[in-house]
Amino acid sequence: MKAIPEWSNYYNRWKNASPSPILLNALDRFSQENLCFNKHAIDLGCGIGKDTFYLARNRWRVLAIDKEPEAITAIQSGMQEVCDKLIEIRQTSFELINELPKSYLINASLSLPFMNTWNFYQFWPIIVDSLEQNGRFSGSFLGKKDSWFKARPMTFLSRKNIELLFRHFDIELFKEIEFGQATMLGNMKHWHIFSIIAKKIMQ
Ligand SMILES: C[S@@+](CC[C@H](N)C(=O)[O-])C[C@H]1O[C@@H](n2cnc3c(N)ncnc32)[C@H](O)[C@@H]1O
Repeated sequence: MKAIPEWSNYYNRWKNASPSPILLNALDRFSQENLCFNKHAIDLGCGIGKDTFYLARNRWRVLAIDKEPEAITAIQSGMQEVCDKLIEIRQTSFELINELPKSYLINASLSLPFMNTWNFYQFWPIIVDSLEQNGRFSGSFLGKKDSWFKARPMTFLSRKNIELLFRHFDIELFKEIEFGQATMLGNMKHWHIFSIIAKKIMQ
């Protein structure tokens, strides 16, 4: 089994995809609060930008981060269509990030699990520090019943592990799903995904 996924295949397959339901749900929660705040978001592992562009179209300033040159090029070429002043792009690995700007929303749609566990736990406090009080995390993690568990140097978490990550947060949505679906390389696999929206309540 390949250790590094072919992101190019993934990007092609999902190029017309809608924004993540979990992101839409988090944005609804901000709208319902009707508060005045600085709409700055970070899209971690933005890929070709389905969530980044949606955020910018909804007048969020977005820092879009991904390590893949192809993802960065796709965002750059789509930027004029939206308002390019709202999107800032950073091509880097999460493993090289020491600090993130203060933000009200951190979105990480199926990107953090691709770090190994040691790197993930190094990076997690940087994410938490960067979120403003009352800011939200929206994103997904892989669970231990996933077919890739033990087969790949990635991060797989239990429900308890995730609850610990969010101990300074109010967990607003915590969904666990399992299903069979082909990977970006066309191989069938069992997916075990946790989706979460959590609001930071303590600094
Ligand atoms: C499954 S894709 C998801 C893309 C996008 N969030 C979406 O929902 O369409 C995961 C993305 O995370 C990026 N990624 C994975 N590991 C990364 C790392 N260590 N540092 C930065 N980006 C990473 C990949 O390049 C890829 O674009």
